[in-house]
Amino acid sequence: MGTNTVEIRLGELADIDSWMELVETVRESFPGLETREDMEAHRNTVLEFLRRRSAVCALQDRKVVGALLFSREESALCFLAVDAAWRRQHIAEKMVGYALGLLPPERDISVTTYREGAPGGAAARAFYKQMGFQEGELTEEFGSPVQVFTRKR
Ligand SMILES: CC(C)(COP(=O)(O)OP(=O)(O)OC[C@H]1O[C@@H](n2cnc3c(N)ncnc32)[C@H](O)[C@@H]1OP(=O)(O)O)[C@@H](O)C(=O)NCCC(=O)NCCS
Repeated sequence: MGTNTVEIRLGELADIDSWMELVETVRESFPGLETREDMEAHRNTVLEFLRRRSAVCALQDRKVVGALLFSREESALCFLAVDAAWRRQHIAEKMVGYALGLLPPERDISVTTYREGAPGGAAARAFYKQMGFQEGELTEEFGSPVQVFTRKR
């Protein structure tokens, strides 16, 4: 198995079960996915993004190993995760690159992620910096301290 077996494309409604299986494995990394009700609401959110063609996935044999939600209206990345067994193979980089191609070229792109020093946040912060995002405002999301990162066009 190698990265060349992974396909990057827009997610489809038929991907939802496999998508949510991936989310289940990373839910502890994300505020707002604590309860069964949170997960049910998140599933509906993902379905909404899939319908709006604003969900990118990485597939290995029809299994979702990477997931990215983005907002065309906000010019923002909203959710990003790669299966732990598939990290450091440039899958997140390819998914973000795919989404950047679908976002308006004249607007900055923002994302909120872990603050410096937050447990588990090192990968995401290193990743966004490597993708050209710069550190911005400290804020909160679902009651958790986070930081905005912005990629200038
Ligand atoms: C953050 C995350 C999506 C990165 O996915 P990934 O597919 O492993 O990332 P990529 O392979 O595309 O990484 C590209 C570059 O980012 C940097 N990077 C990624 N992970 C890193 C890590 N753990 N430590 C240091 N740098 C890292 C490196 O420069 C890497 O290039 P290299 O491997 O050639 O050195 C993944 O670690 C993840 O799902 N984490 C848990 C969930 C999460 O934190 N999501 C984001 C919350 S907003």
